[in-house]
Amino acid sequence: MRILVTGGAGYVGSVSVEALLGAGHHVVILDDLSTGHSGSVPPEAELVRGSFADEALVTRILLAGELDAVLHCGARSLVGESIRDPAIYFRQNVAGGVALLEAMRAAGVGRLVLSSSAAVYGMPDATPIDEDAPLRPINPYGETKRTFESMMAWYAAAYGLRTVSLRYFNVAGATDRNGEVHEPETHLIPNILRAAEGGPPVTLFGGDYGTPDGTAIRDYIDVSDLAAAHLMAIEATAAGDPRTDVALVCNLGAGYGFSVRAVLVAAERVVGRSIPHAIGPRRAGDPPILVAAIERARSVLGWQPRRSTLDETIGSAWAWRRAHPAGYAD
Ligand SMILES: NC(=O)c1ccc[n+]([C@@H]2O[C@H](COP(=O)([O-])OP(=O)(O)OC[C@H]3O[C@@H](n4cnc5c(N)ncnc54)[C@H](O)[C@@H]3O)[C@@H](O)[C@H]2O)c1
Repeated sequence: MRILVTGGAGYVGSVSVEALLGAGHHVVILDDLSTGHSGSVPPEAELVRGSFADEALVTRILLAGELDAVLHCGARSLVGESIRDPAIYFRQNVAGGVALLEAMRAAGVGRLVLSSSAAVYGMPDATPIDEDAPLRPINPYGETKRTFESMMAWYAAAYGLRTVSLRYFNVAGATDRNGEVHEPETHLIPNILRAAEGGPPVTLFGGDYGTPDGTAIRDYIDVSDLAAAHLMAIEATAAGDPRTDVALVCNLGAGYGFSVRAVLVAAERVVGRSIPHAIGPRRAGDPPILVAAIERARSVLGWQPRRSTLDETIGSAWAWRRAHPAGYAD
C-alpha cells in the first residue's frame, strides 16, 4: 500500500514508518518538524516538510502520490502546554484535523488510523479501562483527541471513511534505529534514563497514593508493539472489511500496570546502578491507576503485545540512548 504518515518524524511515527517499510509499504511522511527529527527519516521514505493543517498541500500529496491510507500520528501532545495555551492545541489538533479530513475527502482517500490517547478518559471510574468507559478529558490535549475521534466517527458515518482510533497508554522503548527524543521531555522512562546518565534527578510525582508503594500505577506499551498494531489497524480499514463498517476504537497498552517506583527499580536493574530521584507532590489530574483493557485490540485486530516486559522495554530505550548519546543529528 501507499501510506501517508503525518508526524512520521516523531517518536511513535518514526517507529511506525520503520514497521510499514519493513512490511513492504510505500511511505510518504508529512511532518512540520515542530517536535520531530528529520534524522529519524530513513532514505526509503519520502519526507515532505509541512503541516497536515494545510489542506491544499495534503490534497496535493495524496493525489500526486496516489496514496491509499493515512496514519495520523502528527499532533501537539504536551498536557501542561495544552493547559497553558489551549489555542495551539485546538488550532493544530482540531482545526488541523478538519483540514486533514477534508483533504482526504477531496482526494478520495478513505482509510484513516489515528494516534489517540488514554487522555480521552480523564479520571476513570474503574480500572482496567475499556473503550466504552465515559470520555471525560481533564485537559485540552485530551479534549482535542476526543474531538478528533468524534469528527472521524461522523465522517465515517456520513462519507464512508473507514477509521480506527488507537488509544495509546504510556508508550516507551526504542528500536535499534529510532528512540524517544523530546524537548521538554515529560515521559517517565526517558527522564529516569536521563538521570541515570548524570542529568537532573528524576522527580516521581506523588508518593502518597493508595497503591502498594504509594506511587501511581501506569500501563507501559512498547513502541514496537504499537507499530505492529498500526499495521493491523490499517489492514482493518480495507474496503468491505466489516471491522470498520463503523468507526473502530481500540485501546493499546500492555494490559497491566507498574508503579512509578517499580519502573525506577527496573531501570536501575537495566543500567546496573542506582538512579538519583526525588519524590515530589502529586500532579493535578493524575489518577492513581491507569491501566488499559486490551481485549478489543486482541479480538478485533488480532494484536498481541510481544515485547512488553518492562525490563526489555527499558533495556531497548537504554540501548538506543547509549548508541545515540547526542540524539538525532537534526
Ligand atoms: N508518546 C506517548 O506516550 C503517547 C501516548 C498517547 C498518545 N500519543 C500520541 O501519539 C502521537 C505521536 O506521539 P509522539 O510521542 O511520537 O510525539 P512526537 O512529538 O514525537 O511526534 C509528533 C510528530 O508530529 C509532528 N507534528 C506536530 N504537529 C504537526 C503538524 N501540524 N503537521 C505536521 N506534523 C506535525 C511533530 O513534528 C512530530 O514529528 C501523537 O498524536 C500523540 O498525541 C503519544
